[in-house]
Parts: sequence; C-alpha cells; structure tokens
Amino acid sequence: MIRLIKPYISFEDVEKEYREIFESGWFTKGKYVEEFRRVIREYTGANYAHLTTSATTALMMALRALEIKPGDEVIVSDFSFPATANVVEELGAIPIFADVSLETFNMLPEELESKITEKTKAVIFVDALGNPSGIHQIKEICSRYDLPLIEDAACAIGSSEFGEKCGNIADITCFSFHPRKLLTTGEGGAITCNDETLHRFFEIKLNHGAVSENGKIEFVDFGYNYRLTELQAVMGIKQIEKLDEIVRSRNLIRDSYIEALEPLGFEVQKVSEGVRHNVQSMVFKVPKEINRDELSKYLKNENIETTIGTYSLSGTTYFKDKYANVQYNSSSLEYSTITLPCYNGVDNKLIIERIRGFL
Ligand SMILES: Cc1ncc(COP(=O)(O)O)c(C=O)c1O
Repeated sequence: MIRLIKPYISFEDVEKEYREIFESGWFTKGKYVEEFRRVIREYTGANYAHLTTSATTALMMALRALEIKPGDEVIVSDFSFPATANVVEELGAIPIFADVSLETFNMLPEELESKITEKTKAVIFVDALGNPSGIHQIKEICSRYDLPLIEDAACAIGSSEFGEKCGNIADITCFSFHPRKLLTTGEGGAITCNDETLHRFFEIKLNHGAVSENGKIEFVDFGYNYRLTELQAVMGIKQIEKLDEIVRSRNLIRDSYIEALEPLGFEVQKVSEGVRHNVQSMVFKVPKEINRDELSKYLKNENIETTIGTYSLSGTTYFKDKYANVQYNSSSLEYSTITLPCYNGVDNKLIIERIRGFL
C-alpha cells in the first residue's frame, strides 16, 4: 500500500539516546523534554513552549488559560478536525462556526467579523491542512475587537506567513505531533506563546497545579498531567533538525502533482502570497464531473491510500443535531476534496498514472 505519509524518523536516529534513557531509568521530566522545549522556541521564535499529550489537550489548556466559561462563544474555522470544536463544547462554551475560503480552505475574514457578538470570548483559527494563509488578516480583526486569537496549528509545524512562523503569530498556538504530521512523537503536542502570564499558567496547570521554590513544592491550583516522555522528546528533537528540509521536499512533490493534475481539472488548495506551506496534506478539489468517492475506491484497489480533505464541523452529526446545520463552503470542500500520498520518495508518477487510468 502506498501510504498517505511515512514518518521522517528511523530507529537509528534515536538509538543512542534511547539506550542512555533505558540505562539511566530517567523517562520523564528530564533533559530531553527541556531540550525539545528549547528547540521549539528556537524554531518558531516564540518566547515560551510547553509540551502536551496532543493538540487536543493543548487546545483545552489554551481555552482554560483564557478562562472560557459555560455560555461564552468561541468562533472556530468550520473546516477542521472535530477536536477544534470539541474542546469548546467540553467547557460548556458555544462553538460558532465561521465559513472558510473555497481557495485556501481557511476562515474568511468577513465571516469572522459577522459572527462577533458581546458573548464572543476567543477565536480559533485553523491552519487548514497546514496552510496558514490569511492568519495575519484574522489577527488584525481580533486585535481590533480585543479578542484573543488561538491558532490551531495542529497540522502546521514548519509553516509561516510573511516570514513569521506558526507558533509566533497568534496569542496561543497549539501543535500536534500525531503520526499524520510532519513531526511525530507517536502522540503528542505543544503550546507556544509570548505572554509571560499565559506561560506561568501553562507551567503550573501542566504540572498538577504545582510550583516549586527552593526545593519546596506547593499546589497553588488544580492541574493536570499532560506531559510528554523523554523518549517522545528525543523523537521530536531529531525531526525538528530536518524540518526545513522536509518542508522543501514536500513542496517539490506538491509542484509535480500540480503540474500533472491541474491540466486534468484538479484544483490544488491555494496558498496566499507570502505563505510557506508545509504541505502537511496534499489536497486537491476533484473536477466536478468526477465522483470523489469512486476515485478513492479505485485508488484503494490499486493499493494507494487516500482520504478526504477534512470535515465541515457544523455538518458532523453531533454539531448538526445540536446547532442548526448550515450549507457552508466547508460542506462542499468535505465532499469534493481528496488527499493524496506525499512523503520523501513517494512514487507519485505511478499515482498520477493511476488517476489518469481512472479518468
Ligand atoms: C486541525 C486539527 N486540530 C486538532 C487536531 C487534534 O490533534 P491531536 O490528535 O494531536 O489531538 C487535529 C488532528 O488531526 C487537527 O487536524
């Protein structure tokens, strides 16, 4: 099977450090966790970085840091993985779904402005499939309305807009290190921010609510354990070293897909001027006359893995039943997009040939 992605890490990359960790028995809260935090700060340019068990727990912590309460409204991009809105729901707040551009698949500025009310307490902008196009425009609107901006950059490590890396644009940024991402720790996530008060909040909340001074531990708040292990941190450190190279090579694969598929009527997810896209997912809108699901089925029979772009959150069964369903651009994207395999060494000539065969 040609898979959607292959991890950019091998056992040999981590063998030396793993041996040392197993011999020392130091599996948690050690030097590799601190080193991973440091390299995330250095890579993104953010002042502070915290590690979490997933982007979902990172997003949950972000909302807690902003003191989101039951009844508050949080505006979220409607084209995303359900975790983006689930965390709002978990706190008893109300996710307000903002439609997205049919070109970049990201939150539309006019949609955001039209949805702001007295109850709006935060905005979650999603870098759809790793693409941060338009985030600065959304940030400008948030500043004008004095609303905190959370960037759901679950897919976007390595992306940037106008030279500013994801992780150093919004008030709080949340990353995922799930195996579908460019950088994986098996499961895992991170939060970055520049504000010291937010940093202090995460430092305490992610450590069971504890502060430690002169060797004395005091529990000043209730808190959680959403920590990554030393083993996971080593995986992260090894991949961040080659992240820029990974992004470069994925963009070359993207170019060759575009060259072959656009003449056949496929439309690639657009990237705005000034954006570096990490190409976390290689997504096309299929031509109108083609049935996307039939194409996926055909490619599966040819041992080629594909999937949809992502979901219209307001159209998922839970959110549709709870809040009225609206026909958004995101619904049409959910049904017209396809993700194709993309990784170093992928045989995309074969994939393109098979797509031609289907046509
Ligand atoms: C946009 C977005 N947000 C959040 C998540 C959840 O990430 P995690 O699996 O690390 O919790 C995902 C997962 O793919 C995602 O794509």
